[in-house]
Amino acid sequence: MAARTRELSTAVDQLRDEVAERLEAEAALKKAQADLIRAGKLSALGQMSAGISHELNQPLMAIRSYAENGTAFIARGQPEIAGENLDRISDLARRMGRIIRNLRAFARQEVEGVSDVDLVGVIDAVLEITQTRMTHEEVTLDYSPPSSPVMVRGGEVRLQQVVLNLVSNALDAMAGRADRRLTLRIVAEGATTRLSVRDTGAGIAEPERMFDPFYSTKEVGQAEGMGLGLSISYAIIESFGGTIAGHNVEGGGAEFTVGLTAVQKSEAA
Ligand SMILES: Nc1ncnc2c1ncn2[C@@H]1O[C@H](COP(=O)(O)OP(=O)(O)OP(=O)(O)O)[C@@H](O)[C@H]1O
Ligand SMILES: [Mg+2]
Repeated sequence: MAARTRELSTAVDQLRDEVAERLEAEAALKKAQADLIRAGKLSALGQMSAGISHELNQPLMAIRSYAENGTAFIARGQPEIAGENLDRISDLARRMGRIIRNLRAFARQEVEGVSDVDLVGVIDAVLEITQTRMTHEEVTLDYSPPSSPVMVRGGEVRLQQVVLNLVSNALDAMAGRADRRLTLRIVAEGATTRLSVRDTGAGIAEPERMFDPFYSTKEVGQAEGMGLGLSISYAIIESFGGTIAGHNVEGGGAEFTVGLTAVQKSEAA
């Protein structure tokens, strides 16, 4: 009887140790994840600012030539045409303002909590950032934005970061290929709203490894290809209580789906 008791108490001690170890490991994992998000935010910021200076340069050049034209038309006594040039300038200036606002929101290092976010607005912002690249690489966009906001639970900037990475990955996968079509879909499924990002690229080489930190098939030393995008996205979406998954599609290409908690209409008011 005494021996049995001793045995049992040893077993309990062992269990207790194991539980403590588990908890420690879990805490370490949580911390690593938080560190990863922070590191990724910086690298994403670098990527984002490179993209944005590119985005700003174009309208800036255009503004210059419209201004020059405007001056010339005034000199020629054609103020109406000069006025049209001025209108174009103000459109472009407004566009630049929007881009800068996006960057500012992104750079804000605030620890934003989880709130109600408009998924349509998030997609808009990402498309604005990637527009030049998509036009340049002649990518067809298949997306019909819903006419009203689609509210989900998340953090706006972080969600934008996730969608930007999915779209960038899709564009990377299609670079240099004959068929380049990016398909975005928002689907409401009860309590969950899903966003899918689908491309016509070469497909995922090793789906079981793609969420691993630093796993990348892209060339090292380039602006992209840190291999952090998906692992950070995973951590971010998990912190929203959502899901993220990707798979190869029949007929070629990859599809990534993000599942987010839908904000019920009555609560959203
Ligand atoms: N749409 C896709 N099609 C094909 N492969 C993909 C796609 N998205 C991701 N992958 C694969 O998963 C890898 C990891 O993606 P992830 O976004 O984590 O890193 P990355 O894009 O290589 O680098 P980073 O995002 O840090 O710039 C990619 O290198 C690529 O091999
Ligand atoms: Mg990536």
